[in-house]
Amino acid sequence: MSIITTIEDLRVLAKRRVPRMFYDYADAGSWTESTYRANETDFAAIKFRQRVAVNLVDRSLKSTMIGQEVAMPVALAPTGLTGMQHADGEILAARAAEKIGVPFTLSTMSICSIEDVAARTTKPFWFQLYVMKDRDFIERLIDRAKAAQCSALVLTLDLQVLGQRHKDIRNGMTAPPKLTIPNMMNLATKPRWCLNMLRTPRRHFGNIVGHAKSVSDMSSLSSWTSQQFDPALSWKDVEWIKNRWGGKLIIKGIMDNEDARLCVESGADALIVSNHGGRQLDGAQSSIGALPGIVDAVGKQIEVHMDGGIRSGQDVIRALALGAQGVYIGRPFLYGLGAMGEAGVARCLEIIRNELDLTMAFCGLRDVRQVDRHILLPGTY
Ligand SMILES: Cc1cc2nc3c(=O)[nH]c(=O)nc-3n(C[C@H](O)[C@H](O)[C@H](O)COP(=O)(O)O)c2cc1C
Repeated sequence: MSIITTIEDLRVLAKRRVPRMFYDYADAGSWTESTYRANETDFAAIKFRQRVAVNLVDRSLKSTMIGQEVAMPVALAPTGLTGMQHADGEILAARAAEKIGVPFTLSTMSICSIEDVAARTTKPFWFQLYVMKDRDFIERLIDRAKAAQCSALVLTLDLQVLGQRHKDIRNGMTAPPKLTIPNMMNLATKPRWCLNMLRTPRRHFGNIVGHAKSVSDMSSLSSWTSQQFDPALSWKDVEWIKNRWGGKLIIKGIMDNEDARLCVESGADALIVSNHGGRQLDGAQSSIGALPGIVDAVGKQIEVHMDGGIRSGQDVIRALALGAQGVYIGRPFLYGLGAMGEAGVARCLEIIRNELDLTMAFCGLRDVRQVDRHILLPGTY
């Protein structure tokens, strides 16, 4: 195996090791994928000011997100079906995050359940909530996250309806995979993935099966999920969820200044500038493009986080410079997971940590908390 030095190396290896339908599920955006691409390319346009001959001894990447200490301000984003990129994926990713000292966010649509991840980790993780029509189920999910001592609830608001992803439709994406002839032929080329998957009992949506009314197996599950995302979701629901949860609340999926102001009014602790990694509204602005305007509008009243398109430590520092208190990575850690399991997620975080540290130094800073717009070349953002 060639030496892994970049997130791109992890992506290439994941593509070889993960069955096509799950690799495609991660590496795709909605419709023309223009927003998915813009998330990455808009980062590259932002240039740094290089500084020299400043003291760079004893550098620190430590910071806080929603008041919690982090080894660097980079969290793992909630991603559905992570346990299909690699057997037991959520547990492995949570462990890698815990060892490095960054937050892990478990998706509602995870394969490993809240209780399972809690039993196999030692530090609190964050839980991401989708609002489903079945409000009893949502109440119980919130209560389960509390019982598991999750230290923040990440409430995703940008999936009232589902953006169309062509590859998923063509691949007939389900978990576990449907055994059609093309899928079986593809699985036959991924022996390592198959062996690991045969060894684990965790092969369907752990937070849902056995917990939601009328979902007992995979066939009832697929119809349940497609009907359950709630198009009637409103800010009244946010208030209700905030009260029921009672802990730190982060609102995810904000791309508009007006919505950012409504987040402030809701009393949330933070918002995430996010277009869901280009998987929902194709044609929306990139997240890094939307970030400065939202920071200017509400940055003094609420903590602003962002995700979408981060593929290096350079991208992390660009987002911090434009006012994000912290960022999240989705695909980079999924590539690491698909490539090498827990070691791959750890490698992903190490690559990003190293790039972040060196880039900060080249910009003439020793403490990540001092990063601001001064490190960027005016006119490039
Ligand atoms: C495969 C995949 C599954 C995702 N599932 C969820 C999810 O269950 N809940 C959620 O709030 N966001 C989900 N997202 C969006 C991520 O949380 C995040 O916003 C996005 O991945 C950030 O962009 P990046 O992948 O370019 O880092 C998913 C993203 C991917 C790639």
